[in-house]
Amino acid sequence: MKGLPRGASFTMTHTQTKGETMCGIVGYTGTRQACEVLLEGLSRLEYRGYDSAGIAVQHGGAMEVICRTGRVSQLRSSVEAVGVPGTCGIGHTRWATHGRPSEANAHPHTSCDGRIAVVHNGIIENFNEIRERLAAAGHDLRSQTDSEVVAHLIEEAYPRACAKEGTDALVRAVADTVEQLSGSYALAVICDDEPDAIVCARKDSPLVVGMAEDGAYVASDVIAMLDATRDIVVLADGQIARCTPDALTCFARCGDDLRTFDAQTTHIDWDMDVAEKTGYPDFMLKEIHEQPRVIRDTLAGRLVGNSIQIDELQLTPEELNLIDRVYIIACGTSYHAGLIAKNLIEGWARIPCEVEVASEFRYRNPIITPTTLVVAVSQSGETADTLAAIRDARVKGARVFGITNVIGSPVAREADGVIYTKANKEIAVASTKSFLGQVVSLTLLALVLAQAKGKMTSGHIRQLYTELANTAELVERVLEDTTAIDEAAHACTDAASALFIGRGMGAAVAHEGALKLKEISYLHTESYAAGEMKHGPIALIDEGFPVIAIATRSAVYDKVVSNLQEARARGAVVVALATEGDEDIRAHADHVLFIPPVRDAFSPIVASVPLQLFARSVALARGCDVDQPRNLAKSVTVE
Ligand code: F6R
Repeated sequence: MKGLPRGASFTMTHTQTKGETMCGIVGYTGTRQACEVLLEGLSRLEYRGYDSAGIAVQHGGAMEVICRTGRVSQLRSSVEAVGVPGTCGIGHTRWATHGRPSEANAHPHTSCDGRIAVVHNGIIENFNEIRERLAAAGHDLRSQTDSEVVAHLIEEAYPRACAKEGTDALVRAVADTVEQLSGSYALAVICDDEPDAIVCARKDSPLVVGMAEDGAYVASDVIAMLDATRDIVVLADGQIARCTPDALTCFARCGDDLRTFDAQTTHIDWDMDVAEKTGYPDFMLKEIHEQPRVIRDTLAGRLVGNSIQIDELQLTPEELNLIDRVYIIACGTSYHAGLIAKNLIEGWARIPCEVEVASEFRYRNPIITPTTLVVAVSQSGETADTLAAIRDARVKGARVFGITNVIGSPVAREADGVIYTKANKEIAVASTKSFLGQVVSLTLLALVLAQAKGKMTSGHIRQLYTELANTAELVERVLEDTTAIDEAAHACTDAASALFIGRGMGAAVAHEGALKLKEISYLHTESYAAGEMKHGPIALIDEGFPVIAIATRSAVYDKVVSNLQEARARGAVVVALATEGDEDIRAHADHVLFIPPVRDAFSPIVASVPLQLFARSVALARGCDVDQPRNLAKSVTVE
């Protein structure tokens, strides 16, 4: 059988699978006090998750370094207590990989003489051998990190670089150092001998630089510098930049030489509101409230005449018709979006669809033929396991389609086609609006496949699209009054554990509801297809045990009601998520969260929202930080 055409965008670099970009880098050199700029920038990066933070600031040819475990606010208190003057510096938030969270392991790391400071994102794969060599040469390595070796390598290279004519010594020393590294890195380096310069380099880990009126800014994520400039240079792999208060010079290797080049600037036109709470107490609540807008934006322009158009698929209706198997690969919340889509793709398009967590898919030998469509779903577009699974699937001959929220992310670059979920930047670590954007995008994909397979009339497609678009309004209604949600949350706050159950679409909603609750409230949760209750989980239930049942109107409604009755008979506190108008459900539940009537196929879009609010409410009552739950990072770029 004829296979599906392949895109030409694929590039595979082995080390990318190991790259770690969970940490955050900032740098500033200019006319302002650097510590203020650095602390502001680090606060902007907090959303990515971290366990320690630090800054190094230059002042009159001497370096002040302060690192703290915990929050940026703790670092700020220490900085303010001593006062750290100076107009050039670098900062870092660290998410521990090599070595536990501690002040010694926090960045910046310094050379033995303390004259060079370095912040690093990524993983230096050959750090053990470098470390041994440096230690044997008398270097005093004070941390357990891979990153520290970079400061010592630059220390070795700097005198050699000074002896050479031409390019600035720090640039040359950094260039010599990165030649010795394997793995991934984004680096920002300062040195007492060049007190107003920051030198940056990158490979497989993002780094951007930008010039503003008051100086030069460096960051691993543009959000850290958006207040100062929207015109940025995205460094490419292998490039080096030297930033001073009034100039940005970019270098690329040319044989043994370093040549300067004119860097291209990219204008960022995001609304700065994405990085602000705009009156909401936390980003999670703000992002939950953005969901009606996400649904509308994700759907905009998709119905043309009576058919759904996803031109980004770059497949003709005939080619789509050839697809005979779909795999959806993803992790965490994105995997749950896939579970919902499986029901739609199989139900509407009648194509067998498997949903698999990417970390499993990549290590087994799935059946892939040229007519297999692999759909990779990733909010960040950077998840290491999902990326590795994409690469494997492509090598095995599948057509790979990405669904992501981040323009130009690795998932977008490496897939043959991509749908962007239009959620805009998501700051809270727990995914809410991105999840809804994924579900809506996958629903569109299911409709396109059904259309291509001739399983639906155009009238049916239009009808479904109209109802799908209407979910935005239904979500708005859920958001109007959260009293019942807060009351139910109050009843579960002191529980040790909770069980989420549902059937069909409700099972996927239950899995996502349970994940949301556990990740932000640290309350242990389980989720099961309700039919599995009697096969084990019912043993958990005793007096006061919370059971959250997805009991919206559907073909399996009566079955779910039987399951929640069984739970209640054993003393469970039952929270039922039900359809408005279903007054009977009150007889079987302690708390009822109503959602407006909605077709079962679209019920997860509406039903997930009260569970997001429920999780947030429980987490707040338990004193948790809903935006930055412990141990979690926004982008999981390590295996
Ligand atoms: C949970 C959550 C995570 C992510 C998972 C995959 O709220 O956000 O479970 O869904 O880490 O991340 P992406 O979608 O970026 O691949």
